[in-house]
Amino acid sequence: MESKLKGRSFLSMLDFSTQEIAQVLETAKKLKSDHAACGVAPLERKTLAMIFQKPSLRTRVSFETGMTQLGGHAIYLAPSDISLGKRETTEDIATVLARYVDVIMARVFGHDIVEDLAKFSGVPVINGLSDYEHPCQILADFQTIIERKGKLEGLSACYIGDGNNVAHSLMHGAARMGMNMTVITPLSYEPVKDVTEQATSVAAETGATITVTNDIDAAAGADVLYTDAWASMGQEAEAEERREVFAEYRIDADTMRQAKDDAVILHCLPAHYGEEIDYDTSRLENSAIFDQAENRMHAQKALIVHVAG
Ligand code: CP
Ligand code: NVA
Repeated sequence: MESKLKGRSFLSMLDFSTQEIAQVLETAKKLKSDHAACGVAPLERKTLAMIFQKPSLRTRVSFETGMTQLGGHAIYLAPSDISLGKRETTEDIATVLARYVDVIMARVFGHDIVEDLAKFSGVPVINGLSDYEHPCQILADFQTIIERKGKLEGLSACYIGDGNNVAHSLMHGAARMGMNMTVITPLSYEPVKDVTEQATSVAAETGATITVTNDIDAAAGADVLYTDAWASMGQEAEAEERREVFAEYRIDADTMRQAKDDAVILHCLPAHYGEEIDYDTSRLENSAIFDQAENRMHAQKALIVHVAG
């Protein structure tokens, strides 16, 4: 596929313009209804290297299956396989991988690692989650919201929980697409200041609003309700303390009463039922959590076709 995105890395929602994100989402929609929408095997003979420093179900399986469906091949590199930064430097890993593969996806701790992979490899690098951002998740989430609501622009989305990687990418993405975003966190667990400032400045161009608050009642009137784990991968030691601090910051029947009747419930998964969301709420008709998981594959296939097809 001849795309203007060819050769580009995707480390953050801010790496793509509003039009470029819309284009990827359009391709994702087409690929979901027709596997051959971009040709029978648009990634034939192409290889994706997948570097993992952290565990995964959705990211690994959706990327690997996606590559198979596109006629290409994916190689899973487990944390112990390459011991990034211990056995070998990021620079050398990036340089060597680029001699073999056409595109790299990495799930890492420090965001600087995906930045270095992109800097040193010269092939497109896709951020499969860093401590700072999770942009592939948000592409799938946006595809899901459009399926349920027909649009992103002008909607009011509300994220309740930790100001983490998912919240960051959601704020960047909402700002790009003109979706109003309220992030509700406990005191001291807000998104990092840089992200809020960047998102606010991008939102000013698209007419969206970005609000960060500790007020749990700010979910009133939301079209979209989103939550994620209170303790992310790498924060396991803080899980118990966070359970107390975050107790109120959850999606439950009370939150549903505040939001619009047809508010879409989103969660990137894995879920911790009884913590950030309860099981019954996660199974309401409003819930699109498994559509999000499915759309990871369609959205990422679209992304790969654009950057490496
Ligand atoms: N949502 C998500 O990224 O899931 P995994 O951690 O299972 O890949
Ligand atoms: N914030 C979570 C997302 C998991 C997909 C984490 O980083 O663990």
